[in-house]
Amino acid sequence: MDTNEMILQQIKDLVEKVMISNDPSHDFSHVGRVVRTARHLCETQPEADSFLTEAIAWLHDISDDKLAAQMSDTSLAPFLAEIGLAEKQVRFVLDGIHSISFRKQPSLPADAPIEVKIVQDADRIDAIGAIGVGRAFAFSGHKGYPIGTTEAKSTIRHFDDKLFLLYDLLNTEEARRMAKRRAEFLHTFYDEFMTELEAF
Ligand code: ADP
Ligand code: NI
Repeated sequence: MDTNEMILQQIKDLVEKVMISNDPSHDFSHVGRVVRTARHLCETQPEADSFLTEAIAWLHDISDDKLAAQMSDTSLAPFLAEIGLAEKQVRFVLDGIHSISFRKQPSLPADAPIEVKIVQDADRIDAIGAIGVGRAFAFSGHKGYPIGTTEAKSTIRHFDDKLFLLYDLLNTEEARRMAKRRAEFLHTFYDEFMTELEAF
């Protein structure tokens, strides 16, 4: 293992430990899928730094305040410095993980770093398609939200409020290629759901 691989291994171990208490929509397997998709997107964006992209991907949900498990910058920054990241890299990674959330800003500024754009795309790919549907219901179940009513918090309303918007907000060409079928599936699922809901 080279130095960067050792650093990423330590980041991965931390994330696995911290995220174990999250609900299934934001568990370690979500993060693993985001990392693998981000690695793939990196291959199509040669200007991206794959080490920093992967570090942001592993850590992207670690300080999300809607999740059970959270780590603040106050403990994350010293950890990253301790395992060998330079001060500039620590700042870059922390700024990255704080800027990809849809709730905070639906799209990144055009001049945002490519590494951050890639992780945002990878995260959004995991929010749509069959896995996205599964995650949305897992999240709602955990919160106790209804599945399909006109209430603001119902799972099916989340499709209109957010999930349907994600495809058009993707940053990279390859992410759009990967997401096309998944975005179409979301609509298929939604139409079927509505048909059943409105049957009687
Ligand atoms: P944000 O980008 O706003 O931080 P996340 O990307 O972390 O939000 O949310 C990820 C996933 O959590 C969503 O794609 C969805 O699966 C689930 N989720 C979040 N809010 C809701 C909700 N109100 N109803 C159903 N699922 C939700
Ligand atoms: Ni995520």
